[in-house]
Amino acid sequence: MDARPILIAIDGPAGAGKSATAREVAVRLGLPYLDTGAMYRAVALLASRSGLGSELDGAGRAAVVEIARRLDVRFSGDPRRQRVSVGGEDVTEALRTPAVSRLASVVSAIPEVRREMVRRQRELAARTGGVVEGRDIGTVVFPDATLKVFLTASPEVRVRRRYDELVARGVAAVWESVAAEQRERDLRDSTRPDSPLRPAEGAVIVDSSRLSLAQVVDAVVALVPGVCAPNPLTP
Ligand code: DC
Repeated sequence: MDARPILIAIDGPAGAGKSATAREVAVRLGLPYLDTGAMYRAVALLASRSGLGSELDGAGRAAVVEIARRLDVRFSGDPRRQRVSVGGEDVTEALRTPAVSRLASVVSAIPEVRREMVRRQRELAARTGGVVEGRDIGTVVFPDATLKVFLTASPEVRVRRRYDELVARGVAAVWESVAAEQRERDLRDSTRPDSPLRPAEGAVIVDSSRLSLAQVVDAVVALVPGVCAPNPLTP
């Protein structure tokens, strides 16, 4: 019998619905939830507070690597209401600004930063298992995961979701800027030399463009070996 804990890797581009899906799958299966993007965002937030921006020279990169090594990031609460703190300060909302999103994409391309985050992610999830979402979870962090899902959606649908999310949070979002930022991030995340975004070997590709969140969650849960889930197509 396989005694390893259940580990579900959910990778995919921004706006594909990874977070919402991963949270709900974690609740459904009673597993911990790990948002690895929040770890890169936390590095970006501290970097921006230190006056570092997207144009990083050698000293700037070294400073970011140091921030990553010293990062004291913690997750608390159940998957639906998870809070993120850094050095004891609740930064859950601060991690979601467009400026932090942009810088997170830049700092996550630095190999030493990735190495440090990957080490921590393995430490956090290896013992308990869980639903882990990110860009490299199935390809690099947990290639032996119980289930690897590559969750994607059309670029238009992804822009629409990001835009709606920003507006719902009261951010004065401009459609064209959201679209341009997403194109830029997609390009950087998928063309960086270290761990570019791509489906892992053996990953199941789920396109959420025309599915509701409940349908995506049902589809993912149905793919977990040994778990019986309701057929999403039956009422
Ligand atoms: O999923 P997200 O938007 O919160 O991720 C923030 C940034 O971090 C994004 O540009 C991709 C990057 N990231 C990564 O490189 N590897 C991960 N495992 C998770 C996120």
